[in-house]
Amino acid sequence: MEHQLYITVLGLAGLLGLAVLMLPAAQRLNFPYTVLLAAVGLLLGIALELTGELQLGGPLGDFLAALENFEITSEAVLFVFLPALVFESAMAIDVRRLMDDIGPILLLAIVGLLISTVAVGIAVHMVSGMGLVVCLLLGAIVSATDPVAVVAIFKDLGAPKRLAILVEGESLFNDATASVVFTILLAMLLGTAEPGLVSGISDFLVVFVGGIAVGYVCAYLVCFLLRWLSGQEVAEITITISLAYLSFILAEHYLHVSGVMAVVTAALVVGSIGRTTIVPRTWHALIETWEQIGFWANSIIFVLVGLAVPFILEGIGLREVGLLAVLIVVAFVARAFIIFVMLPVFSRTGLAENVSTGYRSVMFWGGLRGAVSLALALAVMENQTLSTEVREFVGILVTGFVLFTLFVNATTIGVVLRLFGLDELSPADLATRRRALVSSLTGIGSRLERTALERELDPELARKAVQQYRSRAEEARNRLDDGEEMSDDDWVHIGLTTLSTQESNGYFRLFADRLVAPKIARILLARSNDNLDGLRAGGLEGYLASVKRALAFDWRFRLGLLLQRRFGISRPLAGQLADRFEFLLAMRTQLREQLADGLTQVGSVVSDGSMNRLRDILEKRLGDTAKALDALELQYPDYAKRLEERHLGLLALRLERASYDQMRRHSLIGKEIYGNLAHELRRRFAELNQRPRLDLGLKPEKLIHRVPFFSGLSAERTAEVAKLLRPRLVIPGERILSKGEPGDAMYFIPNGVVEVSLSADTVQLGSGDFFGEMALLSDSPRNADVTAKGFCDLLVLWVRDFRQLIDKDPQLRETIEAVAKERLDYGSAR
Ligand code: CMP
Repeated sequence: MEHQLYITVLGLAGLLGLAVLMLPAAQRLNFPYTVLLAAVGLLLGIALELTGELQLGGPLGDFLAALENFEITSEAVLFVFLPALVFESAMAIDVRRLMDDIGPILLLAIVGLLISTVAVGIAVHMVSGMGLVVCLLLGAIVSATDPVAVVAIFKDLGAPKRLAILVEGESLFNDATASVVFTILLAMLLGTAEPGLVSGISDFLVVFVGGIAVGYVCAYLVCFLLRWLSGQEVAEITITISLAYLSFILAEHYLHVSGVMAVVTAALVVGSIGRTTIVPRTWHALIETWEQIGFWANSIIFVLVGLAVPFILEGIGLREVGLLAVLIVVAFVARAFIIFVMLPVFSRTGLAENVSTGYRSVMFWGGLRGAVSLALALAVMENQTLSTEVREFVGILVTGFVLFTLFVNATTIGVVLRLFGLDELSPADLATRRRALVSSLTGIGSRLERTALERELDPELARKAVQQYRSRAEEARNRLDDGEEMSDDDWVHIGLTTLSTQESNGYFRLFADRLVAPKIARILLARSNDNLDGLRAGGLEGYLASVKRALAFDWRFRLGLLLQRRFGISRPLAGQLADRFEFLLAMRTQLREQLADGLTQVGSVVSDGSMNRLRDILEKRLGDTAKALDALELQYPDYAKRLEERHLGLLALRLERASYDQMRRHSLIGKEIYGNLAHELRRRFAELNQRPRLDLGLKPEKLIHRVPFFSGLSAERTAEVAKLLRPRLVIPGERILSKGEPGDAMYFIPNGVVEVSLSADTVQLGSGDFFGEMALLSDSPRNADVTAKGFCDLLVLWVRDFRQLIDKDPQLRETIEAVAKERLDYGSAR
């Protein structure tokens, strides 16, 4: 029959319509949606076989004819469905969480897959008598757990986050491994490649790492484009869709590296950087669009998988059933070995965090196979250069195995979760739930009573409803201490988790309101995530350590400092200082808000006893942050003023925009006027958005005038001396000199305060003073430690220039010697 386009469209639309009908059915039957789809596909496939002869007409007949024509090919799965599905699931993964468990994930995805491939290959080879390479190929195909099936099932089940990440991470990464092993084995089978372990391993590494590189570069470019497209919501979303497909095809087809790895990497990059590149409103729309795409692809592919089954299984006989049984047993034994033996050993080496028995059992049973295995099997079946026997062998066994995991594992994985209590709330969550219930129910009774009165509802009915609420609240209050094994420490932990999440949300709001730049938002979010990680890994101590680190000078800052000191390049350091200014300002704002407001809200879900401690922790954080900011403001007061001015400007713009939005909503101004105003607003925003340049002010010819020591020199001589002096910025707490070191320079302080630690006490030196002269004069080691109290500008005079200076100006020598003697006397008098 001539196939017309409308029939294809009819088929696709019909399939989608049919698929969504399964959604409520799956809910009602408490059965995994995807498995139900595969079952529907299977039934449709059987129906097709039966009605093939009937030649039905009308829409139904055309629909069935369309389905018959939807021959699912390996290319369709790889190039149409996989990029979208992999991108969607990888984008939803929290990269930090993934990195926490990257050890076990890679172990499972690479070593585990290889072990399973070899075990299945050898066992099936021995039982079936088929060639070893064919059996290894089969092993590689059936060993890859499938992200599509796994993610779909775990989403349905509501499994704990870490467990989901372990299983999803494994399934995403092992597809790459499997397809590489597959390609290598297929080449051997076709005689285009020599079998060899070394070449196999190097091929593998190139393909794996190459895929990551392609994905990274593509995603990076897209993030750049996103900044450029900012504000054009539809364009921003579309470019991510392009990214998923382009990175896959570029990697897989043109560069012959792993397409799956490219898509996974691209999605992870967009998922982490994109969040602070795209404004939150667009981000939500983006996630929703991807969910929609994922749902369509998922719905169609599972039906198509089911549809293909009867056709593939046509040649199945008793021998195949026997082989399938062997395959299933060996594959599961291999998985058990990896998860129950290798993983614990690996954890014991300290390379990976421990994984509990419950989690391991779920991982064992939850390793579903699906579209990826089927696509690889289809690639074998479509390959005409292989013998019919090999093609049927692979096709039947893989399909049988996939069906087994879908219909047996996927439908019973919920039981395993329940067995280990993994579907229940943890004791901490339960305790929080009880408190949330009490604080919500309390007060609802009286509010309801008031509303009923106002709306003149039937007083008798209202009284009943109110009474009901009161007794529920009462009951909840009585049960508050049920099984309360939570200590105040536990509550502090919960409170800090909640506060950290609140903090992140606060930064997102600042970012959404454009009060902080994307780069600063990223810094802030990274720090607040670090705090959460610290809390998870090391409890309160870990949290406090992380909080302290957040205010410390990180490697970027130190690099800037180094560049300035060694090479006199100031820009990076100035940039770092400006960043520090901004993130400290935002952090202070956020912490103030939390102390004023957020903490009270947290009070409704944590115990009263922990509230004081939480308040102390927040207050200490606010104090430290304010101190760090004060140190900066003291050093760069002009810049601080300009930043504040800009902040006020941005706040005003935000208010202005809100006001226009409101007028537009109330139809007081039309679209044209609004557009005109918004345009003007954008222009002013762009102006304000340029942050002022921070001038380090490290100019010896200026700074020298702040040191009285040089005031007696003629203007000409001052200019000469200035050339000998090297400016240097030191940061709070930095040790400038250490006792006992040889003296190589002396220092003048144009701005700032340092502390000299003598053996008995400490002396502070401030703007205009100098230090480090004693070691130079007497050729002896430094006699004290000198540390910066805050930021200081220093002028450094190296020993050679020092000698030259005092030889030329005896007056200066006398002054220095007098000061040094005084200091020495002071020291010996103690
Ligand atoms: P130097 O010994 O080179 O290194 C340590 C410096 O600390 C020393 O030079 C002086 O500049 C400074 N120093 C030592 N003692 C005192 C003091 N009593 N008062 C102020 N500064 C001092």
